[in-house]
Amino acid sequence: MNSKQIKNTSITILEEVFGTTRDNVSVKSFTLKNEKGMEVSIITYGGIITSLKVPNKKGVSEDVVLGYNSLTDYEKSSPYFGALIGRYGNRIANGKFSIDGKEYSLKTNNDSNHLHGGVKGFDKVVWSAEVLKEKGALKLSYVSKDMEEGYPGNLHTEVIYTLTNDNTLVVDYKATTDKKTIVNLTQHSYFNLSGDFSKPILDHIVTINADKFVPVDKNLIPTGKLKDVANTPFDFRQPKTIGQEINAENEQLKRGLGYDHCWVLNDQNKGFRFISSAYEPNSGRLLEVFSSEPGVQLYTGNFLDGTLPNKQDGTYAHRTGFCLETQHYPDSPNQKEFPSTILKPEDVYLTKTSFKFSVK
Ligand code: BGC
Repeated sequence: MNSKQIKNTSITILEEVFGTTRDNVSVKSFTLKNEKGMEVSIITYGGIITSLKVPNKKGVSEDVVLGYNSLTDYEKSSPYFGALIGRYGNRIANGKFSIDGKEYSLKTNNDSNHLHGGVKGFDKVVWSAEVLKEKGALKLSYVSKDMEEGYPGNLHTEVIYTLTNDNTLVVDYKATTDKKTIVNLTQHSYFNLSGDFSKPILDHIVTINADKFVPVDKNLIPTGKLKDVANTPFDFRQPKTIGQEINAENEQLKRGLGYDHCWVLNDQNKGFRFISSAYEPNSGRLLEVFSSEPGVQLYTGNFLDGTLPNKQDGTYAHRTGFCLETQHYPDSPNQKEFPSTILKPEDVYLTKTSFKFSVK
């Protein structure tokens, strides 16, 4: 394997060839490693985090993100395992929205709706990579052309993955456009903090700092109303296992086949702040998520059905991974009351999310 070692003061970055796409484009992998036993591998295809190893309470590092061992598997069929999502995370109803009275039609890929950027979203393109040696970081860039997947404006996108020595992976997003457009970028890692991908994630103890969530209709499109989490299975303000109420008699849970909803995060005026945590008692691994975003989608792997191969010689069964996708609310371009996702040429889209790992 063609590999090259780049070392900075404390983070080591290993560059390797990961594979070649169907269109004959070479895909690289970068592994960032710190001094505390954490290591994360990212490929230029989709900006996908293919592996993220963190120690358990005994100090044993194991992979805690779902994904595949080969590029072919990612290209064949992936439910966005570990990928960067753009230009718009989650659904836009009927793939339609308007800016200043002009209607745009996006490619639809989820029945009649647009999901996660469309047929060829940011999860399926090859990003340019630059190692930021002194920062222990990897910068990925992608230029999405005017009208790509139906979106207006040439969008220059940059995502910087930084690994720190306190076992945190920081994800910084930046985008600029030359025409008014919409943007809502996120990261679609599926976590299983047990390190055993054959185990369901139902015993993970989760908190979400949100008093409200975004109810959806039967096509998982927001109804437009926000609902209080109080006295519903959506209340994660106090720690509770994912499994505790996931099968409760609840119309919203039925629609999502489990949790597949956006929470309206508290303290939105504070910017970058703690938003959510997940703790797996057997391994002792704790994940804390911080973000500048107004929402987070907790998706509990309800559509995983044992057909996709995992990295451990098995398959990904129902609910063996969960995602915490920091984002604006789904379908915001069509919902006047939701925070705006418009990006103007004179503005810069800047958001930040970090994933901090420790043991308890
Ligand atoms: C969505 C799910 C979707 C999944 C794709 C999540 O972000 O909310 O509805 O099925 O991504 O695997």
